[in-house]
Amino acid sequence: MPQPPGIDYAVMEEALGSLRRIPLPPGLKGLPPEPDGEPWTPAVLATAGLNALRDLPTPFAMVRRSALRHNAEVMGRWCADNGVLLAPHGKTTMAPALWKLQFETGTWALTVALPHQAVTAHRFGIRRILLANEAADLRSLEALVRLAGQPGTEVYSFVDSVAGVRAYRAAIDNTGVEPIGLRFLIDIGVPGGRTGCRNKAEAESVAREIHQTGTAVVGGIGAYEGPAGHDRSAGTLASVNSYLESVTGIFRAFHEAGVFSTDDPPVLTIGGSDIFELVNEHVQHELASVDPYRLVIRSGCYLVHDHGHYAAVGPSAQPGWAYAPFQAALEVGATVVSRPQDDLALLNVGRRDIGFDMGSPSVIDPIPADGSRPLPIVKLNDQHAFVHPDESTFLPVGTPVRVGISHPCTTLDKWRVLLAVDDDYNVVDTVTTIF
Ligand SMILES: Cc1ncc(COP(=O)(O)O)c(C=O)c1O
Repeated sequence: MPQPPGIDYAVMEEALGSLRRIPLPPGLKGLPPEPDGEPWTPAVLATAGLNALRDLPTPFAMVRRSALRHNAEVMGRWCADNGVLLAPHGKTTMAPALWKLQFETGTWALTVALPHQAVTAHRFGIRRILLANEAADLRSLEALVRLAGQPGTEVYSFVDSVAGVRAYRAAIDNTGVEPIGLRFLIDIGVPGGRTGCRNKAEAESVAREIHQTGTAVVGGIGAYEGPAGHDRSAGTLASVNSYLESVTGIFRAFHEAGVFSTDDPPVLTIGGSDIFELVNEHVQHELASVDPYRLVIRSGCYLVHDHGHYAAVGPSAQPGWAYAPFQAALEVGATVVSRPQDDLALLNVGRRDIGFDMGSPSVIDPIPADGSRPLPIVKLNDQHAFVHPDESTFLPVGTPVRVGISHPCTTLDKWRVLLAVDDDYNVVDTVTTIF
C-alpha cells in the first residue's frame, strides 16, 4: 500500500516563509553590516546581490547549493536502487529548508535525537518522525505523545527499558491523548557502547511490557553501529559485523515470533554516514529470507559531507561506489590576521565557528604553490585557528581563506544563518538553523 509522503509541504512552505521574514539580531556573525540600520532578514539577504568572497566580513559560513542538491539526489538514488528507506538524521543540520530538500529527493521520515527536535520538525510539516534515542522525562514524553496523537502523524521512538515504556505510559495517562501514531522501536545497543538493550532477553522484556501495558505497538528494531567505531579498520569492521549479527538475529526471531504488532511491515533502522553501504549489504544478506520488512537508514552527514572524515572514510570514497561521489558543501570563510612567526599563521576562526571533534579542519583555499595538500588547522582557540605554513611567504596577513571542515555536525550548530551560494559564490539563498 503506498505510504503518505511523511511531510506536509504546504505547512513546510508556510513555516519557511515565516522564518525568512524574521529579523536577525544586529551584528550576527557571518553577515555584512545592516543596510541603513535596518535588520537583515533571511529573505532580504537572499536577494541583496552579495558575493560571499567579496562582500562579507569574516568569518562566515556558507553552503554550496549545487553540492547539497547533488548529495541529496545521489543518496535518494542509492536508497531507491538498494530498496532502502531513508530517514536522514535531522539533528545534523537542524535546518528545515534542508529537510525539505531531503524529502524532495526521496526521504521517507526525518530522524531526530531529542523530543524538542521532533516538535520543531512537526512545526515545519514533517509528519513521519523517528526518534533515534531514548526519552525519559515526563514533559518531553508528553510532547511526543501529543504529536503522535495528531491525525496523519507517525512517531517511531526508540525505547530500551521497561522503565522507559512505563514513562511513556505515564505521559499517555497524563495527557489523556491516544497516541495512535506511536510505534516503538526496541533499541539494540553495542556492548560497551551507548543506549540499547544488550541482549535478546532484555529486548524481550521491553516488548512484553509494551504488549502488556498496551502503551503502543512494537514497530520494529532500532540500532546504530556508530558506537562500534567510525572507521574502516579491520577491528572496527569486525565489531560492526558481530553487532549486526546480533541485531539481525533478534529482528528475525521477533519477526518469526510475531512480536511486531504493526499493520505495516516492521522497521529495522540502522546506519549513519560512515559505512552505510556495508551495513546495508550485511543486513540485507542476513535477512534475505525475512519478508516483509522495511530497512531504514538514518545517515545525516551525507547531505553536507565534508573535506575530512567522511571524504576519507565514507561510502562514496570507496572503490566499489557506483555513483558520483558526495561533495563537500560547507565552507567557512576566514582571514589570516597574524603571522607572528615564519611557521605560524593565525586565522580569525576558532572553536566558536568550526568543529574539531572528528579530524582536522583545513585551509582548502589557498593551497601551497606546490599544490601538495590543503594545510590542516593544527589547533583551535575560541577565536583563533593555528596553521603551520611550510613557507614564510605563504598566507600573508590579510589573505582571505576558505576553510573546509571535518564532520559537519559541530560546525553547523555554530551558525544561525548559513549563506547558500552558487558555484561563483554569489549568495542566492539563506539556510536558517534552529539548534
Ligand atoms: C543514533 C544515530 N543515528 C544516526 C546518526 C547519523 O549518522 P551520521 O552523523 O554519520 O550521518 C547518528 C549520528 O550521530 C546517531 O547518533
